[in-house]
Amino acid sequence: MMIIGTLMIEHRLIERMVKILDRELDKAGKDGLINPADLDSFVDFMRVYADKCHHGKEEGILFAELDRKDVSREHRKITGELVSDHIFGRSLVNKLVALNAEYKSGDKGKLKEITGVFSGLAEFYSAHIRKEDKSYFIPVMKYFSPQEHEAMLNAFNDFDSRMDLAKYQEMVVSMEKTLKSL
Ligand SMILES: [Fe+2]
Ligand SMILES: [Fe+2]
Repeated sequence: MMIIGTLMIEHRLIERMVKILDRELDKAGKDGLINPADLDSFVDFMRVYADKCHHGKEEGILFAELDRKDVSREHRKITGELVSDHIFGRSLVNKLVALNAEYKSGDKGKLKEITGVFSGLAEFYSAHIRKEDKSYFIPVMKYFSPQEHEAMLNAFNDFDSRMDLAKYQEMVVSMEKTLKSL
């Protein structure tokens, strides 16, 4: 397994979670209701799985190791963009938290804003994933020797062993099931 394989597999789970919320909000646009608990699950998933675990490995291991290398100007530029994307993504998730709190306290009119912020997040984040998958991960692997790659892989495994990844895989599977039965 290569470290970018791990990161790409994580991208696929993130995409599934985004799709679940997208379907739910689409439905909510018709009947005017969203289950705020699902939005809470989405936020938990984005903060812990996508941010802490996934971005944590990107920033804390891959980007950090690349920083020590003599990378091309283009690759340095993309790394900077990716880090800014993570910051922007966090700000959108925080917005969703605030809007969901208002929705829960009875302001049902917030649904439209929730949908708006979510659509922005979904579009922005899928572009982010595309950028990493299509024009970054594979080319930057050339900067590492097999030994250096092996060391990163060990660091990835160490990092993941401290995270509850199964919780988030199960969360996605169970939300997909619920959505299908509606
Ligand atoms: Fe990223
Ligand atoms: Fe990523």
